[in-house]
Amino acid sequence: MPRHVAIIMDGNGRWAKKNGVSRLAGHNQGMLAMKEIIKKADMMGIKYLTVYAFSTENWKRSQEEVGGIFNLLVKFVGSELAELDENNVKVHILGEYREKVPGAAVASIDRALETTADNDGLQFNIALNYGSRAEITRAVKRICHLTESGVIKSEEVTEEMIAMALYTGNDNGNIPDPDLIIRTSGEERLSNFLLWQAAYSEFAFTDTLWPDFTPEEFESIIEEFSTRGRRFGGRI
Ligand code: IPE
Ligand code: IPE
Ligand code: MG
Repeated sequence: MPRHVAIIMDGNGRWAKKNGVSRLAGHNQGMLAMKEIIKKADMMGIKYLTVYAFSTENWKRSQEEVGGIFNLLVKFVGSELAELDENNVKVHILGEYREKVPGAAVASIDRALETTADNDGLQFNIALNYGSRAEITRAVKRICHLTESGVIKSEEVTEEMIAMALYTGNDNGNIPDPDLIIRTSGEERLSNFLLWQAAYSEFAFTDTLWPDFTPEEFESIIEEFSTRGRRFGGRI
């Protein structure tokens, strides 16, 4: 059983096109799929679930689409927060959500973080305004600050320090690296997601468009994952 599963939820736009509805309707359907996967992951005893919800590159999309996605986030928190809290789910955000993100969405996020802060069940990480390169750049700046102020010497910088300065580090309770990264919609790339953390992750790609992704498919991917041998550079 993987401890940490990360998902690149892709294909909402193509699902919308295929079904003759607006892109936003596609994102809405994607949110419904996400709700079911959170429940399933929790039931399966997965400890960390990370979803890629909005990348630092997604700002290139139309104002209408971007605004709509953040409105959906407000809707999601409004309808789901009580149940998430009841189920002892702890919400975290990976990314600079206070930058550029509309005020209503920031307020919803703050409410979700505060409400679930003391929970110790499934940790649900939402990668929002997330980009791995931005994350690594921020970590480098933090470490430069430590060396400039004489707290450590540059020769003393370790991999652990870099990991701790990422969003997945100290700020969010030191999340272990993802064991498995799933991407839907047939695309086989990381798109600036968890570049450092994915060093030894397993990958699973499916042609299913995200809104059509079901808890059953999730479970079968996890089952297949559990048959894989991981070596981390060592020998079997
Ligand atoms: C993923 O679906 C959701 C976000 C990136 C916010 P897309 O909107 O990328 O869907 P496609 O790739 O256009 O089908
Ligand atoms: C990655 O999907 C980001 C999210 C799922 C939030 P994109 O659809 O933005 O990625 P590219 O542009 O196809 O690589
Ligand atoms: Mg896409």
